[in-house]
Amino acid sequence: MSQDRLMALIVISIIALATSSACGPLPGKPLPSARPQLPSQVTNFDQLYNESCSGCHGAEGHFGGALPLNNPAYLAIVDDASMRDAIANGISGTSMPAFGINNGGMLTGEQITAIVSGIRSKWGAQVRPIDGTPPYRSSRVGDAAQGAKVFVDYCASCHGGSGTGGTAGAIANPSFLALYNNQTLRTLIIAGRSDLGHPGWNDYANKPGLDSAQVSDIVGWLAAQRGSLQAQER
Ligand code: HEC
Ligand code: HEC
Repeated sequence: MSQDRLMALIVISIIALATSSACGPLPGKPLPSARPQLPSQVTNFDQLYNESCSGCHGAEGHFGGALPLNNPAYLAIVDDASMRDAIANGISGTSMPAFGINNGGMLTGEQITAIVSGIRSKWGAQVRPIDGTPPYRSSRVGDAAQGAKVFVDYCASCHGGSGTGGTAGAIANPSFLALYNNQTLRTLIIAGRSDLGHPGWNDYANKPGLDSAQVSDIVGWLAAQRGSLQAQER
């Protein structure tokens, strides 16, 4: 390239730069819309979910390691306050982290509200519990001996007679049970994991749906498998 042509190109570039910013606020100052949003200002559900939740709960709310959040049976029983509490404060006895800024997390109250309403509107619009669905919480202290019997009736076909084997794998295993506290076991038994093939409370072929007391009793039996000390702490 000749010296002259190079000069000409440089001049043209300078003119282009100068005129392109001529109608902007100040040369070199980005428009407000072009500035990146602060992380604390993001209230878009998809962005928040993908950044903070999808790694464990799955890209579209399922097929993650943790409970699917797109599960209609779960969304039918859980109340907003319990969801908020789980997100803001984490769930002790599980790997669910605390996301609230007051708890060392990154999410503001407004962002947690955006996540809860995003989960509802994206995956749970119109879901209602069907008759007989056991409630999300129960104050009943599970009867482990009773729970062992219900387990044989409902769970052993896949998880083995004492929960230590079977086609769906061992669950009465202290290191596995260390990932769940009693409430999340209750949620799992009621809501199921259709993404993995684990049935919800009402998905047992040729058997009545599990009632609230039966769910509590199975949880009581599983909790006892953790070892009595841990069971008391949880
Ligand atoms: C490091 C993994 C991890 C991340 C990241 C994570 N979770 Fe969780 N979450 C869990 C685990 C583990 C549980 C409890 C066990 C289960 O239900 O599988 C849980 C449980 C929950 C529950 C309660 C389920 C119940 O029993 O009522 C909610 C609600 C929830 N998570 C929402 C979220 C949201 C929203 C985000 C993103 C802001 C998120 N989680 C990020 C692992 C995670
Ligand atoms: C039709 C077969 C089947 C029956 C019946 C069944 N499960 Fe499951 N369950 C599964 C499968 C499949 C998985 C997923 C295993 C995996 O891939 O981790 C599973 C997973 C689980 C898990 C772990 C979930 C996770 O995060 O991996 C628990 C706890 C569990 N089942 C408890 C029970 C209990 C309690 C009952 C009886 C009320 C029961 N299951 C009945 C098939 C079954």
